[in-house]
Amino acid sequence: MAGPSVTEPEPERADDAVISTRGLTKRYRGGQLAVDGLDLTVPAGSVFGFLGPNGSGKTTTIRMLMGLIGPTAGSARVLGRPMPHAARTVLPRVGALIEGPALYGFLSGRDNLLRYDEADPTADPRTRRERVAAALDRVGLAAAAGKKAKAYSLGMKQRLGLAAALLQPRRLLVLDEPTNGLDPQGMREIRTLVRELASDGTTVFLSSHLLDEIEQVCTHAAVMARGRLIIQGAVADLSAGARGRLVVTTPDAGEAARVLKEQGAGDVVIAEDRVTAEPPDRDPAEVNAALVAAGVRVRGFALERASLEDAFVALTGEGFDVAG
Ligand SMILES: Nc1ncnc2c1ncn2[C@@H]1O[C@H](COP(=O)(O)OP(=O)(O)OP(=O)(O)O)[C@@H](O)[C@H]1O
Ligand SMILES: [Mg+2]
Repeated sequence: MAGPSVTEPEPERADDAVISTRGLTKRYRGGQLAVDGLDLTVPAGSVFGFLGPNGSGKTTTIRMLMGLIGPTAGSARVLGRPMPHAARTVLPRVGALIEGPALYGFLSGRDNLLRYDEADPTADPRTRRERVAAALDRVGLAAAAGKKAKAYSLGMKQRLGLAAALLQPRRLLVLDEPTNGLDPQGMREIRTLVRELASDGTTVFLSSHLLDEIEQVCTHAAVMARGRLIIQGAVADLSAGARGRLVVTTPDAGEAARVLKEQGAGDVVIAEDRVTAEPPDRDPAEVNAALVAAGVRVRGFALERASLEDAFVALTGEGFDVAG
């Protein structure tokens, strides 16, 4: 609990950073270095994707940001205030959904939310029922509101956790894998909801191990691998940093690969009738002409736009593990 009189020796960082960390590090008791020197900057108004394969340190980071566990080293600020020091002033303005929301199984979804709302000293009891009804509606749980939470599916529990985070208008929403357990339709609904919240001015920080999910909804992203930050920035810039791939479809894949190499293409990969490569530094029309001149029957010739996944692979030299 920090009073306003507490002096802060370090200079204020950019005002528009809703979350910023400096050298944030967590080593668990067993010796596991889960987060390693993280410098994260989340701009106000962004939908910020916190991306990384299973075990890369996303949940550990989020638990530190929310003051649930202390860092081993480094510092974190949320809404401009140091965490966990200022948790009492910061947390009421932050809605959070962290791995497996705590629910009372014997209570209905609605009664769970009524309990959450009661636990918030700033929540007006006279408008409680409306608030809860609106939150249930927002996450698509109105019809199942009377059902006991223990009878909810994983996706329904996830929605209920999200509803709890939405009971009050928030400056910041922190959602750890919000689409975990949801079917494709449910995932789309959550994406739509996230966009709506963002257009209302809420900054949304969400973790995911699904690259395409992040590309679809986020304005900014940070990529984690093995506890370290690989890159962060605007999503458009991140994928622009990686070059797209040249894709040639042909029954003469071997010959096409040879010509592409001759033309200066890098990382030539043959997969049946598809040959992909890093495009050489020359007019693609010339490359195509060279293929045709060598007798390659070109059935398709395209430059695929780089994705975040390409950026990830280019940066880490590893595939993005989606085994989880
Ligand atoms: N309480 C704990 N004690 C010891 N090690 C832990 C603990 N929690 C997590 N870890 C380890 O820290 C590392 C990071 O875990 P974390 O849960 O932060 O990853 P994550 O990115 O959230 O993964 P996922 O995508 O699977 O949710 C992993 O190696 C994990 O095994
Ligand atoms: Mg996690």
